[in-house]
Amino acid sequence: MTAQPSYVLVTGATGFIGAHVVDNLLAKGLKVRGSTRSIKKGEQMKAARPQYASQLDFVVVEDFTKIGVFDSVMEGIDAVIHVASPFFYNTTNNEEELILPAINGVKSILKASAKAGTNVKRIVLTSSFASIVDVNSTPGPDFTYTAQNWNPLTYEAAAAPTATSVVAYRGSKKYAELAAWDFIKTEKPPFDLVTLCPPMVFGPVVHPVANIESLNESNAGLWAVAAGVDPLPGARVPAWIDARDLAEAHVQALLRPEAGGKRFLPAALEPFSYEYAADIIKSKFQWAKGVVTENYVSGTKPSFPYGVDGRTVADELGVKYRTFEVTVVDFIGQVKENLA
Ligand SMILES: NC(=O)c1ccc[n+]([C@@H]2O[C@H](COP(=O)([O-])OP(=O)(O)OC[C@H]3O[C@@H](n4cnc5c(N)ncnc54)[C@H](OP(=O)(O)O)[C@@H]3O)[C@@H](O)[C@H]2O)c1
Repeated sequence: MTAQPSYVLVTGATGFIGAHVVDNLLAKGLKVRGSTRSIKKGEQMKAARPQYASQLDFVVVEDFTKIGVFDSVMEGIDAVIHVASPFFYNTTNNEEELILPAINGVKSILKASAKAGTNVKRIVLTSSFASIVDVNSTPGPDFTYTAQNWNPLTYEAAAAPTATSVVAYRGSKKYAELAAWDFIKTEKPPFDLVTLCPPMVFGPVVHPVANIESLNESNAGLWAVAAGVDPLPGARVPAWIDARDLAEAHVQALLRPEAGGKRFLPAALEPFSYEYAADIIKSKFQWAKGVVTENYVSGTKPSFPYGVDGRTVADELGVKYRTFEVTVVDFIGQVKENLA
């Protein structure tokens, strides 16, 4: 990719991370087309951004279980940030609800972008640390996960009827990302690919959220601490990133020519834990005292059991990471004021 993009299609634009990506692009003066399954949410997003009325439009793209969903929405688009993918754990059929839609969504957007007459030069894909980390191994502090690592989970294990939805989600992200790299290798399309593999993502919301029950999966877990969940959940991974910093990583991955063809691991340089979140919430919000559980060892800052290379994204994409305290205070304060 050499020319700078001007009109970016953002999929999952009415979701938690997608909406931050939309706002980051708009603030940098780019035109944005958001795709959503819900015209109502698209209209709400547009109505909340009157200053960007001429820069922002929405298209309804149906469920990824249908083939060719993006074919009719590519006109004028010269870059894509593909954020959309199913991320919830309350499933009845993991393969049909998580794995196949994730893979089909990636195949659909790549095929639509490669069709004759389109002008797409780069696709940025939101993958996940789930496609990097091997949760069954305990590598120790001498080992550092980087963007070169791949989760060894097989498709069969992820799709097994006995697999939990958490395991299936990890497979959905790995095999969707692999499908994208395979497409580039075999089809040699006129665009390049950048993938981002963030760990847990937290932060204030800028997409339409009707009530606390509708919070996205990762933020719902953080809010539960403020709401008094007991016992506190254990963190599946110790790494995290603020959604605003992740949006900046996506947009820099789109704008920097030298990022083409690379895989990145955007992750804050400090670890998190729900115990640390509980300490922050109690110390910053008077109302939380007596609500947040006392059933844990407080006052202990989390540590990384293994290394996670967030430094490369800071160096190569210029992202400055927020602290966990800032993220928790901004998000919990927002939810308490507007939704609780
Ligand atoms: N949050 C995290 O901690 C985290 C960490 C690593 C990676 N990620 C990745 O980040 C991306 C966004 O996640 P999020 O946290 O922002 O969650 P989210 O708020 O639930 O957003 C998911 C988005 O994907 C769209 N989507 C889901 N299933 C779909 C389907 N079957 N067909 C079409 N669209 C579908 C949703 O569309 P509608 O808005 O139309 O419902 C929504 O916009 C996902 O790729 C996820 O895997 C998230």
